[in-house]
Order: sequence, then structure tokens, then C-alpha cells
Amino acid sequence: MAIIELKNLNKSFNDHQVLNNLNLIIEKGSTLVVIGRSGCGKSVLLKHIIGILNPDSGSVLVNGQDIWQTSRADFNKIIFKMNMVFQGGALFDSLSVGENVGFELIEHNLAEGVGLDKKIKEALSLVDLFGISHLMPSELSGGMRKRVALARAICMHPEIILYDEPTTGVDPITADSINELIKSLQDKLKVTSIVVTHDMKSAYKIGDRIAMLYKGKIIVEGSPEEIQNSRDPFVHQFINGLAKGPITED
Ligand SMILES: Nc1ncnc2c1ncn2[C@@H]1O[C@H](COP(=O)(O)OP(=O)(O)O)[C@@H](O)[C@H]1O
Ligand SMILES: [Mg+2]
Repeated sequence: MAIIELKNLNKSFNDHQVLNNLNLIIEKGSTLVVIGRSGCGKSVLLKHIIGILNPDSGSVLVNGQDIWQTSRADFNKIIFKMNMVFQGGALFDSLSVGENVGFELIEHNLAEGVGLDKKIKEALSLVDLFGISHLMPSELSGGMRKRVALARAICMHPEIILYDEPTTGVDPITADSINELIKSLQDKLKVTSIVVTHDMKSAYKIGDRIAMLYKGKIIVEGSPEEIQNSRDPFVHQFINGLAKGPITED
């Protein structure tokens, strides 16, 4: 069953068309990886799914409901079931790790006192971090920051988690452990995940399906095997990281 369906999405900033009649379906409980070059619109795509940006035209359906054709209350309810792990983590530097993880719970009055501490600890243990609630973000390594950002997302028990470049900027071993974590959360929490990356190793490892964004459209969508064996010259060039090919610098 489709949990998310993007239909004919268009989005321009000034004269720059970033999404161009984009169509994409995401099945409930699956992990979809969106690949594409830097600047091609991957973050913009995620922001449309989670309702931070609204399309110029087209629709974003979540469980069949168009998020922009519904009441404000229903919009909030739909978006409440999603959580995004932002590129770089976007932690609040003046708040402790625990306060960062529990931030949304506190903001929405969802837990108090012992209940809050317990939820923060549970979320941190799901990302294999223990006893670090009191630390400040500046004391964390890059990989730990990404884990804390993930703990903050899962604290809210989302049905859908969006990850923006979860392995960018960390070393390959840390990247692999973050990928393992994304997979294990998939198994444990049965969430639907959408992961944006330009790292093919991560894409093959975690994706049930992989979609490639190019010039505002999803030009191919398939299983990791199908993508790996794609004869599409654009896909071939991207997944193999080749300078020569139909994709040019512009
Ligand atoms: N809020 C915005 N206002 C104007 N331009 C934007 C905005 N957000 C993104 N863009 C532009 O849209 C394009 C795609 O950006 P982005 O989605 O961040 O790419 P990436 O694939 O690297 O995540 C870029 O050219 C970027 O400058
Ligand atoms: Mg981006």
C-alpha cells in the first residue's frame, strides 16, 4: 500500500525549476533511497513530503490524503506522524543532548518528569548511546551528533522518518554504523523511511527501492539490483561516479 504519493509536483524558486512534474510512490514500511547530485533538489523534495515547502502545483498524498487540500488540523495530524533528520543534525547547541532529544516531547507537552527521562533514555539506547544525556552537542563527534538527531526523531514515534544525507561528512566506518542503525530501526519500529543520499554504498545497503532525481524528475525507480543493472546512461554514469557521460555540469 502506498503511504506517500507525489503527483506531478512542480516547484520553482525565482526562475529556477527544481521539481518538474515529479511523480513518486513510497510503499508503507519500506525504505526508499533518493539519489542525485548535489543541488539537484533532494532536500527540496523531502521538504515537500513533510510539508515544510508547498508545491507550485501537483499534490502530496499521505495515506491517500492530499496534505494541501485538507484542514489545518488534519494537516498537523498528518505531519505529526513524520519526522525529519536534517542534514548536519540541526541540534540546538545551547541545549544538552537530553534536552535536544526530548525537545519535541516537551514542546507538545507529551511527557513530564520521569516519563520524559525514560523516553529520552529509550530513544538514546535505540541509537546505541547510553549515559550521554548531560553532554552538550559541542562535546560530540560527528557520528554521535547524527545519532542524537536520529534519537530526537524516534522519540516522537513517527510512522515515517525522512533522512537528509545521514552519512554525509562522516568517515566510512561511522557511515556504515549509521546505515546499520537505519536498518535496525526499520526492523524494530516498522517505520517507512525515505533517505536522501549521494552515497551509492549506503543506497545499496539500506534501500528496498532506489529512485534517482535528475532535472526535477525521478528518472528511474527500482530495486537496488535493477538500479545496479540499469542501462540508462544517466543512471549508469551517476552510480559509477563517472565524469564522462550525458550528465554535464549545469
Ligand atoms: N528556499 C529556497 N529558496 C531558493 N532556492 C532554493 C531554496 N531551497 C533550495 N533552493 C535551490 O534549489 C536547488 C536544490 O536544492 P537542494 O534541494 O538543497 O539540493 P540537494 O539535492 O543538494 O539537497 C538549489 O539550486 C538550491 O539553491
Ligand atoms: Mg540537500
